[in-house]
Amino acid sequence: MNREKVRVKSFTINGICVTGQSNQTILEVAKDNGIEIPTLCYLDGLSCVGSCRMCIVEIKGSHEPTPACSAKIKEGMEVTTNSPKIKKAREMILSMMFSERSHVCSTCIANGDCELQNKSVELELEHSKVSYLNQRFEIDASHKNFVNDPNRCILCTKCIRVCDEIEGAHALDIFGRGINSRIIHDMDEPWAESVSCTSCGKCVYVCPTGALYEKDISEEEVVKKRGIITELVKNRGK
Ligand code: FES
Repeated sequence: MNREKVRVKSFTINGICVTGQSNQTILEVAKDNGIEIPTLCYLDGLSCVGSCRMCIVEIKGSHEPTPACSAKIKEGMEVTTNSPKIKKAREMILSMMFSERSHVCSTCIANGDCELQNKSVELELEHSKVSYLNQRFEIDASHKNFVNDPNRCILCTKCIRVCDEIEGAHALDIFGRGINSRIIHDMDEPWAESVSCTSCGKCVYVCPTGALYEKDISEEEVVKKRGIITELVKNRGK
């Protein structure tokens, strides 16, 4: 087995000298040093898929933006997290997420507790840079406690990963390709008929938007519990 020795690496983030271990990612070292990098598909405690690209950073000498959540640190690298180029790219990524589905905050159950909404505020995105596709997906409200509204989904796959990696049920998956992709239960059964779903609600807790939510509660009562998964994983490791 190829067991690479973990070494300490020194590099800079936004001109600040930092150190980390060679098995750490740029995002992890940035967090350890109190440097904020926006994320959407990343959740501490779940595997990293690097799909949303919100965490892109610039690395000197590289022509491509690099996702900080999946890129391992290297000795002497010079990372910039907030250049105008990166900001512009993040705005475009967010715009595309908004344009693909129906993210009208004023009519969304997660209004005020939505990571997509928060990112737009943080990045001062006042309007989408691309036009809306106005796609319509069927809402699955068959479950007695929860609703799956693909119109609000950003396909971050946190729900799939938490169901698989933490609950061990793997009741969820992605069906379709590209902008037509959507989260399904089992073999695309109505949620209520899923034999794998344990109704634990973890997928609802980690959903960053109003795509998965609890029934019979008002917008004011929606409290996503995204942090509990991270806590759960930490406590398991004790
Ligand atoms: Fe890094 Fe989504 S947070 S790609």
